[in-house]
Amino acid sequence: MARPFYVTTPIYYVNARPHLGHAYTTICADVIKRYHRMVTDDAFLLTGTDEHGDKIVRAAKKENTTPRAYVDKISALFRELWPQLNISYDHFIRTTDPDHMGVVQGILQKIYDQGDIYFSEYEGQYCFGCERFYTERELVDGKCPDHDTKPETIKESNYFFKMSNYQQWLIDHINAHPTMIRPERYKNEVLAFLREPLDDLCISRPKSRIKWGITLPFDEDYVTYVWFDALINYISAVGYPDGERFKKYWPVVQHIVAKDILKPHGIYWPIMLKAAGLPLYTHLNVHGYWNIDHGKMSKSLGNVVEPLQMKTIYGLDAFRFFLMREMVFGLDAGFSETALVQRINSDLANDLGNLFSRVVTMAHKYFKGIVPESDAAVEKQLALGLDVASGRAVAGYMQEMEVFAFHKALAAVWELISRMNKIIDVTAPWELAKNKACQAQLQAVIYNLLEGLRVISGLIYPVMPDTAATMHRHLGGNPDEPFYKIDYVKVWKRLMPGTQLPKSVTLFPRVELKNEPAPPDEPPKGDASPAPLKPEITIDDFARVDLRVAVVLKAEAIARAKKLLKLEVDLGEATPRTLVAGIAGSYTPEALVGKQVIVVANLKPAKLMGVLSKGMLLAADGGSGSIVLAPDQPAAPGARIR
Ligand code: MSP
Repeated sequence: MARPFYVTTPIYYVNARPHLGHAYTTICADVIKRYHRMVTDDAFLLTGTDEHGDKIVRAAKKENTTPRAYVDKISALFRELWPQLNISYDHFIRTTDPDHMGVVQGILQKIYDQGDIYFSEYEGQYCFGCERFYTERELVDGKCPDHDTKPETIKESNYFFKMSNYQQWLIDHINAHPTMIRPERYKNEVLAFLREPLDDLCISRPKSRIKWGITLPFDEDYVTYVWFDALINYISAVGYPDGERFKKYWPVVQHIVAKDILKPHGIYWPIMLKAAGLPLYTHLNVHGYWNIDHGKMSKSLGNVVEPLQMKTIYGLDAFRFFLMREMVFGLDAGFSETALVQRINSDLANDLGNLFSRVVTMAHKYFKGIVPESDAAVEKQLALGLDVASGRAVAGYMQEMEVFAFHKALAAVWELISRMNKIIDVTAPWELAKNKACQAQLQAVIYNLLEGLRVISGLIYPVMPDTAATMHRHLGGNPDEPFYKIDYVKVWKRLMPGTQLPKSVTLFPRVELKNEPAPPDEPPKGDASPAPLKPEITIDDFARVDLRVAVVLKAEAIARAKKLLKLEVDLGEATPRTLVAGIAGSYTPEALVGKQVIVVANLKPAKLMGVLSKGMLLAADGGSGSIVLAPDQPAAPGARIR
């Protein structure tokens, strides 16, 4: 019987649209689910949305709508996005589902009845952004570490969950199950946290402050703290307590989260499960953060990466591949379109795409597209060794997939690809084809290369399901065949000689970086006459433009952008700003460092050649280029210009 496998993503807050970060976690879950289907497990993927709490009420208010209408709208954005990214989830849970709400109340009642919840007055530092109290120890310079704002002092009576009772038990459990939280750095982080005394968890919010939540079963005047409500989704979604799915999948569950929510998953959740008398998850798989330009992705910075836009520009499989190959699971990674294009061109178009089209094209050229027979003795004499290399790739790939090391699993496949590319170079089939006496060698080389491609098509299936299917079809496979099942993939020489191959296709066209955008401050070319005046504006219109003096701290060229320079300028703010200026034709980077310039400081940030420019430098049109404007005498960085 197939072994059950159960994987979950966090349930995402509906106060923002889905972005690259959400897509990454959910694609990881899809890849691991497809991998487990590949090894013939009965795999189940859960995702969903987290819809209660003050954050949501505030977001709804901002849109002038009710919380109900608001959560319905944003939850649908997530639900409808996943299939477009080829993510095949088995259930989509919403914390506003009546079944889920019932399960949360049932668990609360059970824990309350056994004496693990108590009522007490509490005065503490409350961050409205996080919707939780902070201890002095957790604050950084007296501020919330996530929101960088001072929490407010709130005094109220609330219900508390006695987490402290379970602290030693949890330490012992983690030590007895060393891979429960992985990679190891996150296990160590949780254990380090548990070295300090654990505070009890405030699990209620008075309805006088927040109404949008699940009412406590033992006190009508309170709703449940969002995290206590949200974590329970992992069991309510599969039919806790008696559902068949719950019985089958819960004992093997694995969670995927990013490092931002390690504490609720590494501490609150195991203790909640223990208190509810349930077995713990088998693994908490924790990944790092995708950063943009070394910083956070955020709406206010205007650098949010939209998954569907990436799919439209670069293709879905290329996008999925990039995410899985570029990030070392567990560590942070930087997202940029330049890095994405580089991976597409080198790993996909060059290594895999070229190999595929060369081999299939040669099969057509030398054998009319019919898979040739290969003689074992000739293979030995040629020392192709692709059977061994393929076996090694399959074993390495499986070992790494089991532990969520997607980048290493793909690297194992790419070792096979590079070995096959080398075989082409060394055996030079075009030379063998010139010589009738080398016919058997030519057959052996082409057969083995086609067979290697068949193995690769199976191995890439979890990450690039569409490309895998295209490869399978072009290797003469039947579309209904489970070509990606591991027992099928790993049997060497499954490809039948005599199979007719369809014509080759280009799997991944090379991608050019999008055209360099016309820099905003580029003078019109070859035009010496002054540009016509723009329509009149009022003084109020002009007052909306915030012009400031700045000092250039650093200047550098931008790869592949002949006209642009990337500048770091001091605007008298806490940290320097990055600007992109189209003056590379007129100034060297060195000539700008230390120079005072004038900057539009409140211009909406825009991305130019992958660099987020937060402002614009002013320059006059010169006859042959730009002339940077500067104050007549040195002024303080950040000085206003009126
Ligand atoms: N609702 C809670 C989770 C409750 S689970 C019981 C929540 N929601 S969230 O919308 O903020 O999602 C956080 C998760 O989104 C992260 O743990 C991660 O999976 C994903 N990511 C959001 N931004 C990310 C990056 N920049 N990089 C990688 N993943 C990130 O927390």
